[in-house]
Amino acid sequence: MPHDSTAPAPRRRLVAVLPGLDAQQQARLTAAAAAQGFEALLFEEDAAALPWLEEAEIVLGQSAALARRSPRLRWFCTPSAGVDHLVREERFRSPDVALTNSSGAYGVTIAEHTVMVILEVLRRQADYAGIVARREWRRDLPVRSIKGSRILLLGTGDIGRETALRLRAFGPARLTGVSRRGLDPDGLFDRAVPVEMLDSLLPETDILIISLPGTPQTRRLLDADRLARLPEGALLVNVGRGSVLDQQALAAELCAGRLCAALDVFETEPIPPADPLWVCPNLLITPHVAGNMTLPYTRERILSLFLEDFENYCAGRPLRRRVDPRRGY
Ligand code: GLV
Repeated sequence: MPHDSTAPAPRRRLVAVLPGLDAQQQARLTAAAAAQGFEALLFEEDAAALPWLEEAEIVLGQSAALARRSPRLRWFCTPSAGVDHLVREERFRSPDVALTNSSGAYGVTIAEHTVMVILEVLRRQADYAGIVARREWRRDLPVRSIKGSRILLLGTGDIGRETALRLRAFGPARLTGVSRRGLDPDGLFDRAVPVEMLDSLLPETDILIISLPGTPQTRRLLDADRLARLPEGALLVNVGRGSVLDQQALAAELCAGRLCAALDVFETEPIPPADPLWVCPNLLITPHVAGNMTLPYTRERILSLFLEDFENYCAGRPLRRRVDPRRGY
């Protein structure tokens, strides 16, 4: 959207770099800002926003560069759920600059992705796609069911909860939620346990779903020893962060045919062209698409969560989605 850079600087400015908002959503953001005495400048990409950051008090955007270029910044909201790319920034060490995320916007899209990849693997979709591509007619591959599976959800935030809700619809399975405190306020899991119990639970897990943030505490939580505890044939789904598991150790398990996996996140993204992971057997790769902003519902949630905290900000109330940069989420 073009702006006249010769106009006098407004008193308070909100800069948003949020691709894909429709006209109605843009109007909502602009009106909410105006009602609080803010001028809202909306952009589709960082480069267009850069000349406007000098006066920005609030920035809604993805990249750390936006924060670095905003000397008057008081609040930075990322449309992502994960903040691992931001918490290392010196800018957010200061208590004067609040950092919030959009946790709560991605549960639906990531849960649908997770159900999709689980069914794809259990029902041998890749094998059948190969069979029909060769114009063969085979119908005898053994398949498995979600019903009756022992499912461990490592991470019981918005993503873990939305996933559990959907998995319930497939009929009785045993859903175990694992989190730092082992709580289950909505009663979505058959049992909720603290992460200290992980080692004893892995041997009785058919499907392991990881939706943890990337923090120093979660780094390589799933190391070679823990992966080895999973029973033969177990399926591991990672929609959190690649750093949570030892990718090389997992690749060894996949090559040995002991485990299968569906990974949406990786230690290095994009996966380097020569990385053996590209051709690793028993692995379904998706290029970090489980939770991006390509679903309209997700964009709508990002906007409404932001507007909720914008009201809080303007009223001087604590921001609901404030991240603790030292904790990392
Ligand atoms: C996506 O991975 C996100 O953090 O929003």
